[in-house]
Amino acid sequence: MKGVAVFVQVLCYLAVTYAWKCVEAPQQYPAAQIDAGQGMVVMTDQQNQAYFLSGSTWYKLGTVKLQHVSVGPAGIWGVDTLNKVYKYVAGDFVPSEGLAMKQVDAGGLGQVVGVSFTSSNNTYCLQSTIASSYSQDSSLYWNSLSSSMIYYSCGPLYGCWGTDSSDKIYVTQTFLPNTCEASGWLVVEGAARMVEVGTDGTVFVLNAGGDVYLRNSISSSTPQGSSWTRIPMCFTIKHITYDLGQLWVVTTGGIILKCSQ
Ligand SMILES: *[C@@H]1O[C@H](CO)[C@@H](O)[C@H](O)[C@H]1NC(C)=O
Repeated sequence: MKGVAVFVQVLCYLAVTYAWKCVEAPQQYPAAQIDAGQGMVVMTDQQNQAYFLSGSTWYKLGTVKLQHVSVGPAGIWGVDTLNKVYKYVAGDFVPSEGLAMKQVDAGGLGQVVGVSFTSSNNTYCLQSTIASSYSQDSSLYWNSLSSSMIYYSCGPLYGCWGTDSSDKIYVTQTFLPNTCEASGWLVVEGAARMVEVGTDGTVFVLNAGGDVYLRNSISSSTPQGSSWTRIPMCFTIKHITYDLGQLWVVTTGGIILKCSQ
């Protein structure tokens, strides 16, 4: 992937902005999806293999083919190509019985949230005590969040964000990890396909056109923030994640870029 890397660097330097600068990240081409949390970075490639980053090398993570993987305070969780939910335990992914999910997110304060594999796309939450102690193939009890989303992501600080099938963006004002009680849903102006909440409460969205936006002025008193700032990218983006000052993006072509301010 040397050729691609050089190409990315040249293009990104031409498109450099005053605030955010992107460089090529270590590649595991072609990447499908990426998630960063707790200092770790995990991804899946287009063959549904999961990887984690150590130094500048991607290493295989477990032996199960996954379409989506997430890392956070709740550990490492993933979903296979049949939408079965797994947790990473003692070096490999352990399956769970119960609801099938399209996507799960481990970024909250110990709870896991997910979008169910049903035509209604109902969202569910796994209580933090259940998520942390889960260790062998058994049945998982998910609490319904009574909302329908396409993508759902939580952070430890200011609750959870989601996007629905009409690209509407939502945020919860309070979210209790122990009980999965979510309340005070607000609609946020704008339109997005996916939303990612960082450990520090930073929120990024990706719209249908592959553009990335940062939400400004999020705080405990205004968890919905106040405005959007576009982060110019030199490619069309299909997946984003953010942790500890680093924004990771996957281009529609499957190249990984790492951006920082
Ligand atoms: C459910 O999600 C799929 C995409 O994953 C979307 O095409 C469909 O419109 C959604 N349905 C509802 C009821 O939101």
